[in-house]
Amino acid sequence: MKRLGFLLFACIAALTTMAQRANYNIIPLPKEVKADTTKMFTLKGGMGIAYDSSNPEITRIAQFMRQWVSEATGLQLQMTPIDEKASIRLAIMTPGKKGKKAKQQPEAPLTDQQKEGYTLTVDKTGILICASEPVGLFRAAQTLRKSLPIVKEPAGIDLPFVQITDQPRFSYRGVLLDCGRHFFSVEFIKQFLDAMALHGCNQFHWHLTEDQGWRFEVKALPRLAKEGSVREKSIIAPSKVRLYDNIPYGGYYTQEECREVVKYAAERYINVVPEIDMPGHMQSALHVFPNLGCTGGPYPVAPHWGVMREVLCGGNPETLNFLKTVFGELCDVFPSPYIHIGGDECPKDRWKKCPKCQAKIKELGLTTENIKVEGGDQRGSQDGRSAENKLQTYINHEIEQFLASRGRSLIGWDEILAGGLTEDAIVMSWRGTKGGIAAAKQKHRVIMSPNVFAYIDHPQLADLSKTPRTTDSYIVSCSKMYSFEPLVPEELTKEEGDCILGVQANLWTEHIAYPEHALFQLLPRLGAMSEVQWCNPEQKDFENWKARLPQLKKLYDKMGLVYCNEVE
Ligand code: ACM
Ligand code: ZN
Repeated sequence: MKRLGFLLFACIAALTTMAQRANYNIIPLPKEVKADTTKMFTLKGGMGIAYDSSNPEITRIAQFMRQWVSEATGLQLQMTPIDEKASIRLAIMTPGKKGKKAKQQPEAPLTDQQKEGYTLTVDKTGILICASEPVGLFRAAQTLRKSLPIVKEPAGIDLPFVQITDQPRFSYRGVLLDCGRHFFSVEFIKQFLDAMALHGCNQFHWHLTEDQGWRFEVKALPRLAKEGSVREKSIIAPSKVRLYDNIPYGGYYTQEECREVVKYAAERYINVVPEIDMPGHMQSALHVFPNLGCTGGPYPVAPHWGVMREVLCGGNPETLNFLKTVFGELCDVFPSPYIHIGGDECPKDRWKKCPKCQAKIKELGLTTENIKVEGGDQRGSQDGRSAENKLQTYINHEIEQFLASRGRSLIGWDEILAGGLTEDAIVMSWRGTKGGIAAAKQKHRVIMSPNVFAYIDHPQLADLSKTPRTTDSYIVSCSKMYSFEPLVPEELTKEEGDCILGVQANLWTEHIAYPEHALFQLLPRLGAMSEVQWCNPEQKDFENWKARLPQLKKLYDKMGLVYCNEVE
């Protein structure tokens, strides 16, 4: 018996120090993987990563790689300067430089997707990663990370020979986090960004203001965040019964903290798209500046959820001054080429009765047209292209010009179609895909984020007893999300389809107050969304995705990411 015990122990010890094998069946699936599993390169501790140490960006990527290999496997790699003989080599290769292209033909500029592309080769000499830009090296390093087994101090990792050629399908691959309804710490936002980067996402849509709380410091208006960020109490579920906890709730981000988030995101090749939602969803600002409302207030920072009637007055010239101050500081802090102005859910009840709004409508000569606005009606309004909706377009136009003077483009929710789109507006289609299709037909850029496929505040399992309580009017299972196809060929021509920049998942937080719950809502659905964003339709297969998930879950565990363990 003793002998048997010893044998068993010896076997286990031998197994744990044996080489373990990498697996390239990752999420999101690369565009092309040509593997030869009969031949292996064994990655061992002490091997070198060669990179251009004169380039700080590439140096950082090499350091990430070293850290990720160590986290997954315990193997410690060495950082070495450019060294042809190193086992892992990171190389920037400009496409065409080595090719035999005719000299007189100027090379076409790379698309955003090509810039993120890379090749990853494993052969007997080791691992070679090539990309035209550092971002491609970063994406390749993530691919290597996800291919590694999660093991403890193995003798080495066997990597089957492979040639991976990859680039994303869409240039915009976003996730929204609503920090208005609930406030999330900078520390958590960094963890959220790490999760995004793991899935190849590149746009963090930061929803910074809501009726229930203003979260962005505006230095010229110091009372705005100080007082607008705090609600006296919050509704306790169920939301139709107005019961409150009577506990003040608040929090906002200083500009310094926002810059810290921008930098952290940029190091992971994520752009931060800030949103100041206007002219609706502004009750927290009205609380501080009641003169900006049609009725003059007073207005509390909203203690419950829903669409509020109280919105910025569209006829008060102070409204535009206020918005330009806010968006000006937003542009100072966030270098994003896109600035989100919200524009959703702005009831016009107040504007219809407000003398200032009506005087402005008269001054601008705006009239109601009895036309159907495809995908554009405001919620609760059957007005079509009403004078009030056109007043909203007037405000959007003023802000669009202001943002353009700072070199930025405006994004708005699909309600901005209602009064007519401004010249350069990008539409984020959330009430289904109709708004996005209508905008693409007008040759406007579009981001698809249709609620029934992309709203991850909704439950992912049909049995609600297995999930924490959330907004539960419909289920967004992994398979539902995975099935979303943003290009609708029967609706869009090729040229119109090219207007679809990409896809975004949205995490609204009325019922999500804690980081663990936010991650549970996010994962593994972001894995499903990542294949909508990254992969071509012919690559997609939900059963195959499910089979690849266990490997990713091991990495979630390693990274301390909470996730929903069941998949439907
Ligand atoms: C939204 O969900 N109101 C954009
Ligand atoms: Zn008004």
